[in-house]
Amino acid sequence: MMFRYLLIVSFTSIVSSESSSVVINTWNFSNATRKAWEVLLKGGSSIDALTTGCTVCEVNQCDFTVGFGGSPDENGETTLDAMIFDGTKINMGAVGALRRIKNAIGVARDVLEYSEHSILVGELATQFAKELGYKEESLTTKHSKDMYDGWKGSSCQPNFWKDVIPDPKHNCGPYERLSINDINYNRWSPMGIENHDTIGMVVMDESGNIAAGTSSNGAKFKIPGRVGDAPLPGAGAYADSEIGGAAATGDGDIMMRFLPSFLAVEEMKRGSSPSQAAEEAISRILKKFPTFFGAVIALNKKGEHGAACNGMDVFPYCIADINNKNVILKYVKCHKEK
Ligand SMILES: *[C@@H]1O[C@H](CO)[C@@H](O)[C@H](O)[C@H]1NC(C)=O
Ligand SMILES: *[C@@H]1O[C@H](CO)[C@@H](O)[C@H](O)[C@H]1NC(C)=O
Repeated sequence: MMFRYLLIVSFTSIVSSESSSVVINTWNFSNATRKAWEVLLKGGSSIDALTTGCTVCEVNQCDFTVGFGGSPDENGETTLDAMIFDGTKINMGAVGALRRIKNAIGVARDVLEYSEHSILVGELATQFAKELGYKEESLTTKHSKDMYDGWKGSSCQPNFWKDVIPDPKHNCGPYERLSINDINYNRWSPMGIENHDTIGMVVMDESGNIAAGTSSNGAKFKIPGRVGDAPLPGAGAYADSEIGGAAATGDGDIMMRFLPSFLAVEEMKRGSSPSQAAEEAISRILKKFPTFFGAVIALNKKGEHGAACNGMDVFPYCIADINNKNVILKYVKCHKEK
């Protein structure tokens, strides 16, 4: 079986790989796809398209999982994570736990273009953004305040603490460490479809430059200071213009440990189709965390794309390419939760 598969792979890899413009992104965030596609049609680069597409989600607050006014942390504050990964130069810019600045993907792009660094975080990322002219403003809205008040009113459920007292499954903090003898490492995850958390986008422009990136307001009711997978290279997104790109969404705290986007790109390098590559990235996580929630999207140099997922029935992702006049919303069936 493996032998036959390898033969097929070596055959398809000699087929000419004419590059053509494509945008794919996680979830049903089709406004983002459309705007990114429009940038490509006007001759914009993959990085321009990605910045514009993710900015749309930051402004539209895509299901309140991207941008301001969503996913308050335990202090009621919204903080943002974003990344742009340039698959041609293998360069990146990202921000983690960015405070009081709305356009996180814009700041990530500025980290890419105006600094030698890769990731800036927290209050100091805010300073960087302000220096470059971004407006400082509260990211709290009535929606996020109501969510936060509801959470406080229900004994701070759900939350991300474990092995502390008082029992975090029934109580608000402050917490203290549980004594070493009482620790149980079972993790109860508050992540799920209601707490999906990222736009991940992969774009190839007409010159064949592939960029991948993310923007997210992270996990709802996260412990302040938490940085998710979105700004981490190889985790939230990864690209190599000679191969393809990938992006991930879901329970970032688990997914980041497996570098699923990097793995998907590596699998495509070894000859896998984008679907097979995404599948392998998901399978790798499943072996350790059979009920984790998440998805990976992948795009190769030939403009083929695919996705795989776990912990939900189906996972939607959006596509725009030369074959389609409109943005296509596609659904992939997920692994069945065990
Ligand atoms: C995406 O789909 C969900 C569920 O069908 C819906 O509630 C949500 O409004 C949609 N979001 C966008 C941005 O279209
Ligand atoms: C998508 O864009 C249209 C037109 O700008 C807007 O009316 C609509 O509310 C947007 N959809 C979402 C889910 O943000």
